[in-house]
Amino acid sequence: MPISYNETERVFRLDTPRTTYLCGLAGREGFLGHIYYGPRIPDDNMRYLLRLEERPFSPDENPRERASFYDAFPFEYPTWGGGNFREPCLRVRTAQGGGNCELFYESHRIFPGKPGLEGLPAAYGGPAECTTLEITLRDPALELKVRLLYTVFEDTDAICRSVCIENGGREALDLTAALSASLELDNEDFDLITLHGSWAREQTIDRRPLAYGKQGAYSLRGISSHQFHPFLALCEGTATQSRGLAYGMSFVYSGNFLAQAELDQFNRVRAVLGIHPDGFQWRLEPGASFQVPETVLVCSNAGLGGMSRAFHDLFRNHLIRGQKKHRPTLVNSWEACYFDFDHDRLLHLGEEAARYGIELLVVDDGWFGNRKDETTSLGDWQVNEKKLPGGLKRLGEELAEIGVKLGIWMEPEMISPDSDLYRQHPDYAMAIPGYPPTLARNQLVLDLTRKEVRDSIYRQISDVLRSAPICYLKWDMNRPLTDVYSAALPPERQGEAAHRYVLGLYELQERLVTDFPDLLLENCCSGGGRFDPGMLYYSPQIWTSDNAEAVDRLVIQEGTSLIYPLSAIGAHVAACPSHINGRVTPFAIRGRVSLPGCFGYELDLEQLSQDERDLIPRQLEEYRAYGPLFREGDCYRLASYRENHAYDAFLCAAKDRSLAVVSFVQVRSRAYQRSLRLKLDGLDETVRYRRRDTGEVRSGAGWMQGGLLIEAVQSDYFSVLVILEQTEELY
Ligand code: DGJ
Repeated sequence: MPISYNETERVFRLDTPRTTYLCGLAGREGFLGHIYYGPRIPDDNMRYLLRLEERPFSPDENPRERASFYDAFPFEYPTWGGGNFREPCLRVRTAQGGGNCELFYESHRIFPGKPGLEGLPAAYGGPAECTTLEITLRDPALELKVRLLYTVFEDTDAICRSVCIENGGREALDLTAALSASLELDNEDFDLITLHGSWAREQTIDRRPLAYGKQGAYSLRGISSHQFHPFLALCEGTATQSRGLAYGMSFVYSGNFLAQAELDQFNRVRAVLGIHPDGFQWRLEPGASFQVPETVLVCSNAGLGGMSRAFHDLFRNHLIRGQKKHRPTLVNSWEACYFDFDHDRLLHLGEEAARYGIELLVVDDGWFGNRKDETTSLGDWQVNEKKLPGGLKRLGEELAEIGVKLGIWMEPEMISPDSDLYRQHPDYAMAIPGYPPTLARNQLVLDLTRKEVRDSIYRQISDVLRSAPICYLKWDMNRPLTDVYSAALPPERQGEAAHRYVLGLYELQERLVTDFPDLLLENCCSGGGRFDPGMLYYSPQIWTSDNAEAVDRLVIQEGTSLIYPLSAIGAHVAACPSHINGRVTPFAIRGRVSLPGCFGYELDLEQLSQDERDLIPRQLEEYRAYGPLFREGDCYRLASYRENHAYDAFLCAAKDRSLAVVSFVQVRSRAYQRSLRLKLDGLDETVRYRRRDTGEVRSGAGWMQGGLLIEAVQSDYFSVLVILEQTEELY
């Protein structure tokens, strides 16, 4: 049984293939404490790690030191009050204004499968794939029930945690913090890893020694954001890609979050992840409950690479719906023409695409309303017949005749003040009474907390999608939430607006994927401003960054693939010099950097030189040949340009280890060098592999220990793709 309860020890045990998680009950009161999370062990009798024999004992036995107990006990789901001075997961405010909450064990059950979370994205799995533990805790004074859910999967070293909080009392109370998970660990000389960035610089890895006090990442922008990422990792200071202990926490949510690690006086770490408490408040009427979003925990003793692969498997096998959908090669009109297009220009781009066998033309921003630039028409999702006579239908049909499919861009959450929708319904935009709403990119945000607003915008989305043969939708979102206020909520519920917005967004995307099951949805948020597991539940791929320039993209994609599978990463060969940073990079390098992601072009194909054009068939061929391996295989990072400032490399191995591809990209040449020895990882030591281009045959062990020799090329921008395939050939 992957989950069990040892009555004698009063310990809950959760096993994944390679890890064990233990929590247990303490004291006569039934406090729930965290005992162990790490490499798999057979023992249940680990409760000595709760250190209950050391003073202070539990408050029941030593009431004199109640506060000290709270200050030291490794609570599984810490609450505010009683002497817990570290970050709590749960904080309440009662009708009388009290803030304490104390939770004690009431009951538990263990069952096969995993229930969905109402209104929220969450990992899924059937009874044969996973097992769930539900522990119910109760505050007897408040009659508050807190159900902690833990799910473990048969096929991956991940544990999903979520919480449902129910007011069983007779008075309403407010939740002022309701985070998803807390992890209590003894500090093992940990480094903290977060992802930080900005627009066009998303998902940059930041690794630093854990310091005393609180540190981490957060967003208060209403989206998961470009600036930080809903994730944190703690790893041994000596951990590498392939060695050492690493813990990861990833939040299945797309709005405000707090990801925080706190090193305390006893050299213990409390890591918490959940909705950011700032500005959050949720009114719970008697009998009502609040569903907290899910957090995914991963532990690996095989370094950061092991952590990444566990996340990749969990997301591919149990979160991303549509993982198996075909990912067409595409050309996107944005950097090719921006707003400056008409039917003929798009058709021409489509014809160019057809010459190479590119499968899809995506008409980006500018096909609707009176949209000639960023100032107008968001919310008016009717085709601009002046630009596109005959509409998207005619364009789609004419493209179909030449073998190219049609995709479109929309930004459904937004409204331009200069739009018919705004003139008819100015109240649809979020605004705080008494203040003019804050513009960003000339636009305002629709109040998705309101059903009538969601219905109205959904009608438009579905009408457009039904009006033409559209097989792909890029759902964009280009500004943070500022004036967070809902006209539909009473004053005491305004603290719910930011979360209700996210719930409204999820409801819209759920409707979309239900009504249009064949549509390929790609989420986007000014690039990667909302690249998170929540959005991946609805769209199997996300536009990673508006910065598709190859060198910067290496860094962005390294950070993104720390958590997410390559199949989620939208990656295009963009125009050169880069529209974002002005850098000039060869077409071939841009192709190699985009290859492992969902591949496309974002430039005017006609502007390419003959040499560049000649490369397109090869790039498309490589994508067709190795795309499935990148999407479904196991990734091993071999070198990081971010760290060495010279070259980047990774290996992707098929799950059965019969095939592996090594991608090496040199950005800067190094003066007077001999060849570089690139040690490989992830091969089967015991089988032989033939290097396709040279015919060399070696064992997996030989390739991994000896490595590949990468020739010293005295030039910037050089790349190789090495294919190793299993062979029966002898040496
Ligand atoms: C931001 C996106 O990230 C771009 O790819 C493009 O779609 C523009 N918005 C269009 O306005």
